[in-house]
Amino acid sequence: MNDRTRKSDSGGKGGRSKGRRGGKSGNWYERHVGDVHVRRAQDEGYRSRASYKLAEIDQRDALVRNGARVLELGAAPGGWTQYLVERVGPEGIVVASDLLEMDAIAGVEFVQGDFTEQATADRIEHAIGEAGADVVLSDMAPNLTGVASTDQARSMALAELAMDMACSVLKPGGGFVVKVFQGESFDTYVRSLRSHFQHVKVRKPEASRSRSREVYLVATEHR
Ligand SMILES: C[S@@+](CC[C@H](N)C(=O)[O-])C[C@H]1O[C@@H](n2cnc3c(N)ncnc32)[C@H](O)[C@@H]1O
Repeated sequence: MNDRTRKSDSGGKGGRSKGRRGGKSGNWYERHVGDVHVRRAQDEGYRSRASYKLAEIDQRDALVRNGARVLELGAAPGGWTQYLVERVGPEGIVVASDLLEMDAIAGVEFVQGDFTEQATADRIEHAIGEAGADVVLSDMAPNLTGVASTDQARSMALAELAMDMACSVLKPGGGFVVKVFQGESFDTYVRSLRSHFQHVKVRKPEASRSRSREVYLVATEHR
């Protein structure tokens, strides 16, 4: 594996910030509870509204097939994982990973650890095994500081590592979905993706809040 900026021991940070959006009095909380996708996720038993972003991408780009072997990075609390398990069915494999703990989902192998650490990457590669993956997805997002340039740089660092992992474990012809924040080095990242995949598309799912700078890159036909 190309290990660009991976750490070799523990101590890394990541995960979701409780800072700006943790208090129930803030605007974020009001937006969140009033959000149609949040209410729908609650009604339909999904752990997060994020399930609908993936569903929209998958329905458009037909990425996840019955029986597929899937690796998911940044999985907690598990909204995407729930969707993926349903899509791959009993013949498929889902390996999910996150810095945070995640309540178990039947049929999913979960690897907990900081993805920027080499030891975690090694455990993930071991879990996916020699047969490799048909699809790799990353919804990882760093702790948000509120400083756009910092958040974008941290997000891009995770996206770089996710691309390295995808290139390491994907079968030829496989697909990769990664969340990135638009800004500096976005174009460079897309160019790099294009050197590894035949097709690269930018997707902004309807369930992704429009003010957010997040987009998803959907890369298909791994070379
Ligand atoms: C937007 S959430 C993922 C939501 C998930 N897709 C869902 O549907 O429920 C982003 C996740 O990235 C994880 N994350 C951030 N930095 C990470 C790191 N260095 N290693 C592993 N996971 C990380 C966070 O812990 C968080 O759970």
